[in-house]
Amino acid sequence: VMAEKLDLISKCIRTFYDFPTKGIVFKDICPILKDPKALAAVTDLFEEHVRRRYPQVDLIVGIDARGFLFGPLLAQRLGVGFVPVRKKGKFPGPTLSVAYSLEYGTAEAEMQEDAVSAGEKVLIIDDLLATGGTLYAACELIKQQKAEVLGCLVVIELKSLNGSEKLPSTPVFSLIQY
Ligand code: PRP
Ligand code: ADE
Repeated sequence: VMAEKLDLISKCIRTFYDFPTKGIVFKDICPILKDPKALAAVTDLFEEHVRRRYPQVDLIVGIDARGFLFGPLLAQRLGVGFVPVRKKGKFPGPTLSVAYSLEYGTAEAEMQEDAVSAGEKVLIIDDLLATGGTLYAACELIKQQKAEVLGCLVVIELKSLNGSEKLPSTPVFSLIQY
C-alpha cells in the first residue's frame, strides 16, 4: 500500500529545466494538489510517520508558500495546530526573523513572536529540501522561541544538494528522493 502511494505521488511530480534561473532543475508539485488521491497519499504517509515516530508532537510549522499546501492537512489529521513561517513583511505585530540563502537566491523568514511557546514540540513541513537553507532558518526561528524541533517533513529531497547536512541535529523525513 505504501509503495502504491509513493508511486502515485512520484507520478505527480513534474520537472522543469532552467526555472526560476538557468541551471536549476525545478520540481513542480502542483499536479499532486490537483489529484485528490495523490494529495491524500501525501497526508497519509506523513500522518503514519508522525504517529509512529513523533506521537508527542504539539504543533506543525509550515513554510511559505508550499509548506502551507501540505501542513494544515496534516495538522488537522493529527489534531494539532498549524503555525506559518512567512517571507519577510507579511505578518502584523511583533515578529522574529532569520535571513537565509536557498538554491536560487536569498530570503528572510519570519514568525510571529507569540506563535510558539517555550517547550513546545514542533515538526516543520515543506514541499522540498534542496540546500537546506530554508529549513535551517525555520529551525533557528523555533529555537529562538525556546521551542523544540523534533524533525522536518518534506515531500521531496534533492539528495545531491546535501541539505540534510545543514541540519545535523534535526532528522529529515522525505517521501520522494532524487
Ligand atoms: C522553495 C521550496 C523550499 C525551498 C527549498 O521555496 O518550497 O521552501 O525553496 O530550498 P532550500 O532547501 O535550498 O532552502 P521558495 O523560497 O522558492 O518559495 P515558494 O514556496 O514561495 O515558491
Ligand atoms: N526550491 C529550491 N530548489 C528547488 C527545486 N530544484 N525545485 C523546486 N523547488 C525548489
